[in-house]
Amino acid sequence: MSVEEMSATAKALFRDGKGLLAMDESNPTCNKRFEKLGIPQTEEYRQKWRQLIVTAPGLSESISGAILYDETIWQKSSDDIPFITILQKNGIVPGIKVDAGAKDFAGHPGEKSTEGLDGLRERLTTYFNFGARFAKWRAVITIGPSIPSIACIDANVTELTLYALLCQEAGLVPIVEPEVLMDGDHTMEKCREVTVQVQNALFEKLTEYGVALEALILKPNMILPGLNCQIQETVDETAEATIATLLRTVPAKVPAVAFLSGGQSAEHATARLAAMNTKYGERVPWAVAFSYSRAIQQKALEIWRGEDSNIAEAQRSLIFYASSNRQARLGREAPAVS
Ligand code: G3H
Repeated sequence: MSVEEMSATAKALFRDGKGLLAMDESNPTCNKRFEKLGIPQTEEYRQKWRQLIVTAPGLSESISGAILYDETIWQKSSDDIPFITILQKNGIVPGIKVDAGAKDFAGHPGEKSTEGLDGLRERLTTYFNFGARFAKWRAVITIGPSIPSIACIDANVTELTLYALLCQEAGLVPIVEPEVLMDGDHTMEKCREVTVQVQNALFEKLTEYGVALEALILKPNMILPGLNCQIQETVDETAEATIATLLRTVPAKVPAVAFLSGGQSAEHATARLAAMNTKYGERVPWAVAFSYSRAIQQKALEIWRGEDSNIAEAQRSLIFYASSNRQARLGREAPAVS
């Protein structure tokens, strides 16, 4: 795949207001969410859950690409059709999470570095041959007293860059996800400061190593106060802060920024995306899009609870949130939240 072809894939993913569905929770994360709802934490139930998602009627009207986890990409529906085939037939491009998770960063208490570079070249070729056309790698940056450290930022942006280079060599569009976590009581201003630092370091490293920025997708956090911060800015204030920050850090060559939801409520994630597109959509060089997991799936999971009799209602919920985010991308006002 040439850079031009990967760039065309990246742009096509965000046509017509569509966006990405992150259904790539690792088994431990998926099991944790199941456990809270009393759903058995087994491969059988993870397959049922992912089948509910990929067969939801009308999913492709709002979703252009689905990020899968290694277990899921090889799974089949109960009538023996590979999930990847169901997605492709519906015009949804399959993608794959390829990092092996954020692990404790040696010598830096409270910080993480993401593993998964060993053997990555071979894994990427296997996924490409099976039909994946984009990939994802998540780096985690925590805000706390005297963190993040320069070392943590440097390690994470280097890992993201090496991953992105290998993806483009294999013909896969890399999604680079440097997530500044919402956990904590830090202010929105602190989130902005750290996000600028991380994204500047990231784009410097990507450029230095020769990653083609026109064939890459940035999956960032929005600029938000910590979940426990006393002051919670309005939707408009966070939308403005997010766009102003990205205009400082993200080169115009990058085709799209597709946000993670990161623990925001589904309503906030949609309202903030709508505010960004309504007010600034025409003024930014990249698509302002979504790559949500919890903000699209969480309510559906709570409805399903592992029961076959709840599948249709859970699918309706999934489609409702997917479609609300497409509307948000199209700059249509979302229902008001503070
Ligand atoms: O890596 C994180 C996921 O792809 C996005 O998940 O929308 O629940 O934050 P989230």
